[in-house]
Amino acid sequence: MKIMIIQGPNLNMLGIRDPRIYGNIKLETIHQNIQKHAEQMNIEVDFFQSNFEGEIVDKIQECLGQYDGIIINPAAYSHTSIAIRDAISAVNLPTIEVHISNIHAREDFRHKSITAAVCAGVIAGFGPIGYHLALQGLSQILGEIQAIQQAQRQAQEQTMQQN
Ligand code: DQA
Repeated sequence: MKIMIIQGPNLNMLGIRDPRIYGNIKLETIHQNIQKHAEQMNIEVDFFQSNFEGEIVDKIQECLGQYDGIIINPAAYSHTSIAIRDAISAVNLPTIEVHISNIHAREDFRHKSITAAVCAGVIAGFGPIGYHLALQGLSQILGEIQAIQQAQRQAQEQTMQQN
């Protein structure tokens, strides 16, 4: 199982940026912790951070055929980016949206996520642990998809043997 983790704008500033909202932990440390957790779960993870909308769109598109699923924190683009929403929808890979903070408890403009509607699920307000919850949720979803695909293959094989 291979999962891409995409981090949007200003998340490279974690550790410095608004510590009362996002805590003191750096993005690099968050990624090291996710990496350890993923290894325990036998999942391969790659990481990407960009402050540019188009680069995030490119990365989502590149995931097609390369990754089984995506975990994304589109950051401020969650509230504005139809382009990122369309990219997630276009690749049609199971995607979980993560927000470190509880966006619903913050300013009104953060309450609406444009990208959330095309994601399998959204995790918000759990701090960096949210990425670990997303990993578990996504691995569960991918496991179920694999089981369905295997059952379909077996049913096809049986039909071919009968004919
Ligand atoms: C964020 C929430 C967004 O509203 C904000 O613009 C961010 C981070 C979060 O992880 O809590 O940059 O996505």
